[in-house]
Amino acid sequence: MPHAKPLWSGRFKEPLSAIALKFSSSIDFDKKLYQEDIAGSIAHVEMLAATKIISAEEGRRIRKALKEIAREIDGGHVDLSWEKEDIHLAVEQRLIQKIGPLGGKLHTGRSRNDQIALDERLYLRAAVHELQKLIAQLQRVLLYQAEKYFGTIMPGYTHMQRAQPVYLSHHFLAYISMLERDFERLSDCRKRANKLPLGAAALAGTSLPIDRQMVARKMGFDGIVENSMDAVSDRDYLIEFIAACSTIMVHLSRFAEELVLWTSQEFSFATIDDAYSTGSSIMPQKKNPDMAELVRGKTGRVFGSLTAILTLMKGLPLAYNRDMQEDKIPFFDAVTTTRECLFIFSHILVHTHVNRNRFEEELKHDFLIATDVAEYLVQKGVPFREAHSMTGKIVAYSVEHKKSLDQLTLKEFKHYSKYFDDDILSMLDPYTSVERKKSAGSTSPNEVKKQIVHWTRVLKNRKLQ
Ligand code: ARG
Repeated sequence: MPHAKPLWSGRFKEPLSAIALKFSSSIDFDKKLYQEDIAGSIAHVEMLAATKIISAEEGRRIRKALKEIAREIDGGHVDLSWEKEDIHLAVEQRLIQKIGPLGGKLHTGRSRNDQIALDERLYLRAAVHELQKLIAQLQRVLLYQAEKYFGTIMPGYTHMQRAQPVYLSHHFLAYISMLERDFERLSDCRKRANKLPLGAAALAGTSLPIDRQMVARKMGFDGIVENSMDAVSDRDYLIEFIAACSTIMVHLSRFAEELVLWTSQEFSFATIDDAYSTGSSIMPQKKNPDMAELVRGKTGRVFGSLTAILTLMKGLPLAYNRDMQEDKIPFFDAVTTTRECLFIFSHILVHTHVNRNRFEEELKHDFLIATDVAEYLVQKGVPFREAHSMTGKIVAYSVEHKKSLDQLTLKEFKHYSKYFDDDILSMLDPYTSVERKKSAGSTSPNEVKKQIVHWTRVLKNRKLQ
């Protein structure tokens, strides 16, 4: 298949075979970076003019043509087929086509190795912004649900066994805290990624008097990547970013799993509106929580991307290696998948309704207040270990006699410890359990309210980068 001579073909006697070009072409996936690439070229050309490496007039002409190319690509008028190899060459070739040999001055003092590292860092910055916006939105929905269901209790679980009564709001608020750390992880990652790699000039720097600091300032970077070899050869910013996405997905997948459980007939704790549920093509009665299941499933995809980028980078000698071209596939997929999952999750949650009284009766006749009984004895001076053991015996006795703790008489309690008084009988209700909690961060109504106030303030003042 005939194709135009590549811009790098000077030392070659034979053209690259179409098979090799097709195999090595990355434009199908890196064309996504055209805006970043052109923005980088504009900042670069302005610097070349400011440092008098090219004339001001040349700078203006190249800059103007680059802006036109951006619009042409917006409109689908530039050939971005696989023959173009990658987005960097496609833009440069179009520039030369438009303004002739002057276009050849753009690539002074830089290389595609620098360009791709720059484009990715710019794309990462925008992705962080987007994901943080979606995290904040999900946190707001969680806060809304925490306020709406304030007062509803549920069993708190450990090992998927009923442990102690907790407020449902406390459960929602736990996820707000997790997402907050996800938000911070993205900020941390952005902070380290926000350094300019451009001007590494492939790996060793350049003899031309370029001003990297100027380009960094123009493009909103907090300085330059100091070492020119490091600038083009590491992808740790992608590893960190995809790791942050993976942690977001871990959190979402846990909530997704809970929604699957809560909406099962066995739990009957929540329902998801029809608009966010799906049916079965064979079983007419089915209403399935597919959206939550898909979030759970897509988590695996993001973990796959993390594994891919780690494996890709492992053992690569410095500096740039073509292997690294493959980095964009896991990177873009992690961005898209995490974004879609955060987005749908807010919607699923808005459309989730909790059966407020679902556990009320059931919890009264359960053993969830056993820890409260032990703490009751502790308050009477009994060492905790003894109190724990006595309460354990009371539970065993109740199980054996098919009774719940609230069905025991004072006499039965007293049989296990003389420290029991009739006030024990009034504290066997799950509501009094949550109300008795005192420790900071507990599920007591006051502590839960404090969290609600805290997050209302934080989310109202949330600033995005
Ligand atoms: N398409 C390449 C990539 O994504 C751009 C850098 C190519 N550099 C090179 N020396 N061939 O990694």
